[in-house]
Amino acid sequence: MRDELTKPGIEHSARRHKPTSTVGRGRAVKKDVTPAHTEYADGSIHVALGDSCELCQQWPTPTVIVSDGGYGVLGFEGDTSDHLELPQWYEPHVAAWSLRATPSTTLWFWNSEIGWAAVHPVLERHGWRYMNANIWNKGKGHIAGNINTVKIRRFPVVSEVCVQYVFEARIDGLVLKEWLLREWKRSGLALRKANEACGVADAAVRKYLDQGHLWYYPPPEMFVQMQNYANAHGDPAGRPYFSIDGRIPGMGEQWATMRSKFHCPHGFTNVWDRPALRGEERFKLNGDFGRAIHLNQKPLDLVTMIIKASSDEGDTVWEPFGGLFTACAAARRINRRAFGAEIDPTYFHYGVRRLTEEAYQRLLL
Ligand SMILES: C[S@@+](CC[C@H](N)C(=O)[O-])C[C@H]1O[C@@H](n2cnc3c(N)ncnc32)[C@H](O)[C@@H]1O
Repeated sequence: MRDELTKPGIEHSARRHKPTSTVGRGRAVKKDVTPAHTEYADGSIHVALGDSCELCQQWPTPTVIVSDGGYGVLGFEGDTSDHLELPQWYEPHVAAWSLRATPSTTLWFWNSEIGWAAVHPVLERHGWRYMNANIWNKGKGHIAGNINTVKIRRFPVVSEVCVQYVFEARIDGLVLKEWLLREWKRSGLALRKANEACGVADAAVRKYLDQGHLWYYPPPEMFVQMQNYANAHGDPAGRPYFSIDGRIPGMGEQWATMRSKFHCPHGFTNVWDRPALRGEERFKLNGDFGRAIHLNQKPLDLVTMIIKASSDEGDTVWEPFGGLFTACAAARRINRRAFGAEIDPTYFHYGVRRLTEEAYQRLLL
């Protein structure tokens, strides 16, 4: 029998997965800088030079992770040359995040459409549940008539995605909707009694105990009512019911931490019309007249918006792929704590300069 790897198709895909040389193509700043320090910290931000896979294990538990890493376009030194290698590139990062995430954590995963599609199975495998794909539409101005569609044979791309994931909460290895139904059934009570427990006509059975897409997370007060009812009227042999940690009562607060935060900004949909970064906002070498330092710098307003939507003041934001630390800068502006890492010394140097300059300007204001 022929060896599996000698089959033509497989041979091809194995070859495609060989690490590509990624030396330097995407670097906007060619001159290397050795930063004076490998860390920068103020009252709200802590950033360090190094591999975020390791550094993040020392950071406080994240409420928000803003991921803006490899795109498979040789966008920076270390990025892969196509999307096929992205799953391997992200695997150790996603594993590291999952070790520290809780059910309150939201992940915002920035990428190209195909980059996200390639990495999505890795995220799911590590416990991240897909919530929504948001499209950043940079508009026609982004291509400014410079694309030869006859040559590229497709529509010009003016978008990126920013995909919202939450870390799937599990109790006894079950996702929440499965666990709620299992606990109710374990109590021996008829399903319809859940409506009586919650003081509703039929919403408890229809929403909180549903096992399909109609499932709703019971608000903490409803959860406590179901818990109290099951423990008062359920089979005494199986008590306690609905106990997250084996101790009851008073689980409402704990239940509230079993899902991520979301405060939708008024008027927003999942399409974000916003021109690509240019002008003043781009951090440049030698002020406004110099070259852009990092080609992947993200718009501060969009990053601020996603952090605001998924956290409260005082919460912790992670930025594992710092670049110029846009998420850290945004987090500080809206009173969150931020932890970031950047592996490239030159980008780290300029990222810290951006953060210090911004702090100084804010002080002046
Ligand atoms: C797409 S850029 C991020 C740009 C950033 N969002 C901004 O607004 O400036 C990705 C950055 O991640 C950095 N990076 C790649 N692998 C890393 C790792 N393992 N740890 C820390 N930083 C990493 C790259 O050097 C690059 O600067």
